[in-house]
Amino acid sequence: MIAGDMSWLEKAHPIYYTARKAPWGGDPSGPTLENPWMPAIQIHLAEVIMNEGCFYITTPIYYVNDVPHIGHAYTTCAADILARYFRLRGQRVLFLTGTDEHGQKIVKAAREAGLTPQELVDRVVVRFQELWKIMDISHDDFIRTTEERHIRTVQALFHNLSERGLVYKGEYEGWYCVPCETFWPENQLDERKVCPDCGRSLEKLKEDSYFFALSKFEKPLLEFFSSQPDFVMPESRYNEIMSFIQGGLKDQSISRVGLNWGVPVPGDPSHTFYVWFDALINYLSGVDYVDREEKFSDFWPSVVHLVGKDILRFHSVLWPGMLVGAGIQPPQRVFAHGWWTIEGDKMSKSKGNVVDPYQVIDTYGADRFRYFMMREVTFGLDGDYSERALIERCNADLSDNFGNMVHRTLKMLDKYRGGKISRPVSYSDGEWESLLEEVIGKFEFSMNRFAFAQALEQVWRLAHAGNRYIDKKAPWKLAKLPDKQEELDTVLYRLLDCSRLLTLFVFPFIPRAAGKLWEMLGMEKLLEEHRIPEDLVWGKIQMFKPREAQPLFPRILDDEDR
Ligand code: MSP
Repeated sequence: MIAGDMSWLEKAHPIYYTARKAPWGGDPSGPTLENPWMPAIQIHLAEVIMNEGCFYITTPIYYVNDVPHIGHAYTTCAADILARYFRLRGQRVLFLTGTDEHGQKIVKAAREAGLTPQELVDRVVVRFQELWKIMDISHDDFIRTTEERHIRTVQALFHNLSERGLVYKGEYEGWYCVPCETFWPENQLDERKVCPDCGRSLEKLKEDSYFFALSKFEKPLLEFFSSQPDFVMPESRYNEIMSFIQGGLKDQSISRVGLNWGVPVPGDPSHTFYVWFDALINYLSGVDYVDREEKFSDFWPSVVHLVGKDILRFHSVLWPGMLVGAGIQPPQRVFAHGWWTIEGDKMSKSKGNVVDPYQVIDTYGADRFRYFMMREVTFGLDGDYSERALIERCNADLSDNFGNMVHRTLKMLDKYRGGKISRPVSYSDGEWESLLEEVIGKFEFSMNRFAFAQALEQVWRLAHAGNRYIDKKAPWKLAKLPDKQEELDTVLYRLLDCSRLLTLFVFPFIPRAAGKLWEMLGMEKLLEEHRIPEDLVWGKIQMFKPREAQPLFPRILDDEDR
């Protein structure tokens, strides 16, 4: 394929501009991040498109010059939720995360630590891998850019681009920020020559370099963006990138001389690849682009990248440019999330306010940490982290609403029915049925748009309804009345069934608690073997014999309660 030829586009993204009604029949308007219930036509556009039931989700690969912080945990957690959600939907999922181990930043950190770069990366990578374990991250693969399979892929892509005449050798002069690994063009800097991102001094560099002819892709990329209004999400970011491209694209320097900690340029080993050129290609290494045609052709068409807003441009301009140049279709979607501030402040080492995920998990558990990050802030917007906010959020939602409803149910079942109950003969109930239908519709819609907070809001409507139902029906009163025993059975069964549905919905978010609850509910099949939406129907607990009820989320006492 050559630049300008857009035939891959139609193949990759079959026309799906068909207007469709919202699943719950509404016609809400005014799509905003806070209110994502958009007009029907856009609903379809925002759906994740599966290729043969395959879904490929990635996180950025993290620099290993330092240990993980909440920002790393955030993206990885979001990707995990999507992976678990689509697996529950019966899709074949490939979830890739990993580490970015080359470049000047690593060399510098290694020097400061008195280690070789290899020693440093081997040490720090473990901190990431262990964190994913204790956070219950279910990635299928972990890629390190120092691995042979990746190095081969980088070189293959370069070869591919060279063959198509999209690479040339020239001289690069620019201002470089070592900590950010970014070159800044003169016109984006003021006289202080500091990095517009991190504020640190830039170094002026002039050297031989290979260039990728990104400027040739201005028009194809604009066409691609116009045809894919949900390529970059949220919408505000899409507009931002679109106007960046409209401002004109420059060719991109893709190699360095004098830095041997990187992937060597084939045929010219005095050059190593620029760390961003190297890093982006990890997404292709993860589907064995070079060796396994089948894995690539199954998963690549439905690849979705989750990234932080600071690295969106690399992912939505340079990366699709490189791919289109190499004749590979661009990703299906790049979603940029916001940044966490810490108690209102920018997180930084010098301020000493970096949130250590290990510590949070140690104190509050992985589920609470995961839940807080996903529920507190609309995915895509910035958010503020504080321990108080975490405690309040988890107490209100997980303890007082969800945990309380489930715990009361199991306790009552034990007390009034010795832990056993069977499906009532007459069970259908229009109110419960329409509530569930609406919750499913809005939940799935939100999950397709990665609107995690809104998806959870929907789920909690069921827990609220359960709690209200307990209060209204007062099973403790029914238990005392001989002619109300059938009604008591129905109430308890409804509540159990509601607990089962809640467990399915929350499993992607709080997998550990969901697993425990599943056992307490006495469900025979493993939670992972259930399917949504098929199992999201009333009446799927047949005979019931639960384990002893344990509180799932005991309230956390904060300073005011003590
Ligand atoms: N190595 C590159 C990514 C290459 S992907 C081909 C990189 N690594 S990083 O370790 O510096 O950052 C990884 C991610 O952490 C980015 O998506 C960034 O947005 C995110 N975060 C860093 N600080 C953050 C917050 N304070 N809040 C939320 N996310 C933040 O960039």
